[in-house]
Amino acid sequence: MTTTLIDGIGLLYTGDPEREEIPDAALLIEDGLVAWTGPAAQAPDADERVDAAGRAVIPGFVDSHAHLVFAGDRTAEFQARMSGEPYTGGGIRTTVAATRRASEAELATRARALVTEMLAQGTTTVEIKSGYGLSVEHERRSLEIATGLTDETTFLGAHVVPADMDADSYVRLVAGEMLEACAPYAKWVDVFCERGAFDGDQTREILAAGLKAGLGVRVHANQLTEGPGVRIACELGAASADHCTHLTPGDVEALSSSGTVATLLPGAEFSTRSPYPDARGLIDAGVTVALATDCNPGSSFTSSMAFCVALAVREMRMTPLEAVRAATYGGARALRRTDVGWLRRGARADLVVLDAPSYVHLAYRPGVPLVHQVFHGGLLL
Ligand code: NIG
Ligand code: FE
Repeated sequence: MTTTLIDGIGLLYTGDPEREEIPDAALLIEDGLVAWTGPAAQAPDADERVDAAGRAVIPGFVDSHAHLVFAGDRTAEFQARMSGEPYTGGGIRTTVAATRRASEAELATRARALVTEMLAQGTTTVEIKSGYGLSVEHERRSLEIATGLTDETTFLGAHVVPADMDADSYVRLVAGEMLEACAPYAKWVDVFCERGAFDGDQTREILAAGLKAGLGVRVHANQLTEGPGVRIACELGAASADHCTHLTPGDVEALSSSGTVATLLPGAEFSTRSPYPDARGLIDAGVTVALATDCNPGSSFTSSMAFCVALAVREMRMTPLEAVRAATYGGARALRRTDVGWLRRGARADLVVLDAPSYVHLAYRPGVPLVHQVFHGGLLL
């Protein structure tokens, strides 16, 4: 087996809480895994050597919330919003109509292109949701496509009630026949718990059915208004409550006394011109925070984790360290993964060599492509 030593690393952000930053570092890759990290002066021998020439290295980003299986475009909705229209989530049905019309091959090609776009920007793990099919066959098809692209697939049949159904029958369908058809392709179940989407009782019913089918729970919670989403997520032991934009003190307390990660999606607030979540309040209360793109054609059409890091620092008062931690280690916690999101012995060798001396530049130089090299499973892309 070949070993590769990356040395000359100006600053290694490991993501490992035991030793988060190592200046003048090196990292050894063996069999696709991290075999050693430490000061370059103590680096072991290796078959091959890559000189980072003083650049910073971080773990590959873990984007724990993305909606990549869709067709169509919502440019007109975005333009209307930028002229003052509010975001309501009603545009989801536009994407549903386009997604249903598209062929499986077209949907797969488009989703793959987004995953490739993400990888080039340093995202080495991505979660992909269904939610633009909203019929048994269209949701199953979306998830089958997603399984070809990632292990982190999420059944989001409960995104909105489709135009041609009443809410009660749809909830029964999602928790019954649709779940049964989708569960073999899904690791997680998710519900958009929001006024105009699914209320607390409906959310509980669908998530409980998902749990019973062996899926893990994550929730679109408290995005547009305060509501029961975060508390339900914590009660059910969800891996993550996502958005968390409108929280009461009780919600923050529920998060801090549970193992549920708060996944913040600042791309959505940016693109819907909404107030940002109170990241400081969450972090100061001891909640584990993740950052993700929420990449979707409606509320957040960005695939850039670096952009989300910059927003988190500039708009949500996270420190650069907290933001890069949330985009790597935090995302891994939100997916309950211990093999990614950090660079410690035994982890997958997913890492990004930045064209910068420090991860701080991700926020300091917003919008600038700073990815020099990406290693995925130890292989240089
Ligand atoms: O996470 N909030 C619900 N779902 C997506 C938006 C989907 C859309 O507008 O198409 C979100 O923001
Ligand atoms: Fe979302």
